[in-house]
Amino acid sequence: MNGPNLNLLGEREPGIYGSESLETINSGLSNVAAGLGVELGFYQSNHEGELIDKLHAARLEYDAVVLNAGAYTHYSIAIRDAIAAIKLPVIEVHLSNIHARESFRENSVIAPVCVGQISGFGAYSYTLGLYAAVELVKRRG
Ligand code: DQA
Repeated sequence: MNGPNLNLLGEREPGIYGSESLETINSGLSNVAAGLGVELGFYQSNHEGELIDKLHAARLEYDAVVLNAGAYTHYSIAIRDAIAAIKLPVIEVHLSNIHARESFRENSVIAPVCVGQISGFGAYSYTLGLYAAVELVKRRG
């Protein structure tokens, strides 16, 4: 699940976020998922309420969520509360290393309610997030 401005990956600040589009990243993830024998759903929205609605819906549809909440990471208490409300493991991912950039990006208000955070590996952050999600679901049985 991807939040604001991530639909523009590939053309958006490529020096920071890389040159791959979200579609390319997602199709790479589909290949990894096929190899792992798991099914994936994809969602992107630039709107906070839509992301919250999708998190609520995910609790009935999925076993885990890999979430790049974009800038909402840093200030959306509503998304944090949605993650806390659903009994679903959420893995926080970021393409860039949010701890090595502007100071306002260092704090993630969603981190305390996520299972863990993967940050700084470019598009591979999503792959790592997927591996983490699959392993977690397996362990929880
Ligand atoms: C981001 C980092 C955020 O600070 C930023 O607002 C984004 C993308 C990342 O993937 O590196 O939109 O989540």
